[in-house]
Amino acid sequence: MTTLHDAARATLRANDRGGYSVPTARLYPFQWNWDSAFVAMGWATFDEPRAWQEITLLLRGQWEDGLIPQIIFHAPSDDYFPGPDVWQIHRTPPTSGNTQPPVLATAARWLLDHARDKPAAEAEMAAIYPHLLRNHRWWEAARDPLHTGLVTTLHPWETGMDNSPAWDGAMARVPTTTSTVIRRRDTSHIDPAMRPHAEDYQKFIHLVDVFRDAEWNPAAMLAASPLRVADVGTNSILLRAEHDLLALAQRFGNPVDEAEIGARIARMRAAIATLWDAELGLFTSRDLISGEPIRIGTSAGFLPLYGRATTAAQAAIMSVTMTDWNSHITWPVPSTDPRLPSFEPLRYWRGPVWAVVNWMIAEGFAAASHPGLATLIRDKTKGLIETAGLSEYFDPTNGRGVGGADFSWTAAIYLMLA
Ligand code: DGY
Repeated sequence: MTTLHDAARATLRANDRGGYSVPTARLYPFQWNWDSAFVAMGWATFDEPRAWQEITLLLRGQWEDGLIPQIIFHAPSDDYFPGPDVWQIHRTPPTSGNTQPPVLATAARWLLDHARDKPAAEAEMAAIYPHLLRNHRWWEAARDPLHTGLVTTLHPWETGMDNSPAWDGAMARVPTTTSTVIRRRDTSHIDPAMRPHAEDYQKFIHLVDVFRDAEWNPAAMLAASPLRVADVGTNSILLRAEHDLLALAQRFGNPVDEAEIGARIARMRAAIATLWDAELGLFTSRDLISGEPIRIGTSAGFLPLYGRATTAAQAAIMSVTMTDWNSHITWPVPSTDPRLPSFEPLRYWRGPVWAVVNWMIAEGFAAASHPGLATLIRDKTKGLIETAGLSEYFDPTNGRGVGGADFSWTAAIYLMLA
């Protein structure tokens, strides 16, 4: 009898394209940044050399300035839009010019800590550490040049939560593209009701047009972008990654690195504290163009727990918020507060449950001394995958698997939880 365990391993193997994993066949035919970080941890549960290879191939796409792109186009495919012809970044391999939430240092440390082959893991880490450090320096230099403690996100794709209601207000200012022909492929693979709207894509691509015109220069992009947000998700994930990088610096770096990373941690922790929304009972993002908080509850608002940026009192309040959300749905954690009119249980990041987000939130509640809630989220995530399969995301109202099937990061999380 095939178990789901076997199926999860088989999914990773089926999505392997020779050292890197596509998130799923056809819908996402390249290597994605934060997907690969989770996928590396999934591989590590049964094939450590392959896990390290996932990271090595992701780093093959790293730029000289430290950027780790959202997408590495290792091999051509017509199944995805926008491909390298839209980005027009002439590198080998070609890449996108934006980034994604930086889970990588956390994943690399997880691989090292869980390694059965310690000498091999230490050799891999010694090679990877300078790339991670360079990447975290990129985040500050490119996205927080004034050292505010909050990095700026310039594209919804960079948040990983593309069409979250959190971005609706800020995206309302973004014009639609006038220079790029949109040739979406996603809606020929997946029911359009589960994907962003056509107008979202017109705006997503306008932003790419702006950055291409800025010749992918970080300062020019920051100055020209009509979208600038301090995403609570990205900032929490980066802060968490800085903690992991600091632990790695103690073994693979030097005291100068440690001091530098420690200073960033102090700035980020203080700055994330300013994103607390006492009335909503969780953290929210900030629109850096208007300067206003984005007062919409999303699953990203729980990620400061994972980032180690919360007080005990805030964690207690967030546990109440989470319990209240859960009384409105069957399967936690919905990506949007289910009490809001913008909650849509099928549409990508406007309501569905994502296993990777659940894994981070559960880890955060556990670290903040709420083990009951952590266990509930982990058990429900496992149960959801056991009921619905290795889907891209899930409808929180009925547990139905939606989006793409045979999804690498869902398989990875299952292997880590099981
Ligand atoms: C998409 O949906 O195409 C985004 O690039 C995912 O990150």
